[in-house]
Amino acid sequence: MGLLEAGPAGTLAILGAGNCNDVDLAGLAARFDAIALLDIDTKACRAAARRAGVEVAIHDVDLSGVLGRLTRWRRQPPGPDELRALPAAAVEAVRAAVPARFDVVLTSGVLSQLVWSAMETFAVTDPALRGVALGSVVAHLQVASSLLRPGGALVVVADTLARPPDFFRPFAEVDPLDLLVGLESRGLCLPGTELGVVSQALALSAVDVGLAGAWLWAVSPQRTHLVYALRARAPTAATG
Ligand SMILES: C[S@@+](CC[C@H](N)C(=O)[O-])C[C@H]1O[C@@H](n2cnc3c(N)ncnc32)[C@H](O)[C@@H]1O
Repeated sequence: MGLLEAGPAGTLAILGAGNCNDVDLAGLAARFDAIALLDIDTKACRAAARRAGVEVAIHDVDLSGVLGRLTRWRRQPPGPDELRALPAAAVEAVRAAVPARFDVVLTSGVLSQLVWSAMETFAVTDPALRGVALGSVVAHLQVASSLLRPGGALVVVADTLARPPDFFRPFAEVDPLDLLVGLESRGLCLPGTELGVVSQALALSAVDVGLAGAWLWAVSPQRTHLVYALRARAPTAATG
């Protein structure tokens, strides 16, 4: 992934690594001293590492802190206190499982998955949906930041809208960032993955948050994703 070419090497954690379809794992392994893959789907991570012929550490962790709670929340949606406590609980659980800190953390394609998990639990008309979706997003971004060494670099890649390629054809000449802003203003993007929401959520635990780009990704002949990337840094001792 070009987003990881600039900046420091050292150690890298890939969150929601799964099949690693969106990264060149062999290329990254040649550049970084050590790589850790974090995902609930460790089978996919192991297969990806095998395909790339690289040695990586693999951790089976819930990167949102939400998964173990959804069944209970379906019966009794969380109140504001429980949602407020979620990020700290998620960070504590992940840090207990993965004590290492990394020079670079990449989270790619996870935010949409977290929102989809919330949408499978709550109807779109349920007022609990937005709270749980936002709670998951904030918790995940705080987990990602907590895995960084002070000053380390964080890259967040968010797929915010998935549609058949025909949907995007009329916008072929439109800059993807303008397209993103336009489609967001029409309420079409996945709730909780909007650029402004994620930027602000990220700024709760990281500094120097900035847009690194937006683009269309033809995931398959049937599906194109509108994607954007943010860069940020963990606070140093002096700034944090
Ligand atoms: C859309 S896939 C992207 C996978 C990978 N980046 C790729 O391109 O092959 C999202 C990944 O996030 C993982 N995931 C979803 N929710 C998770 C959670 N709560 N904790 C950890 N991993 C999660 C899934 O298992 C899946 O591998």
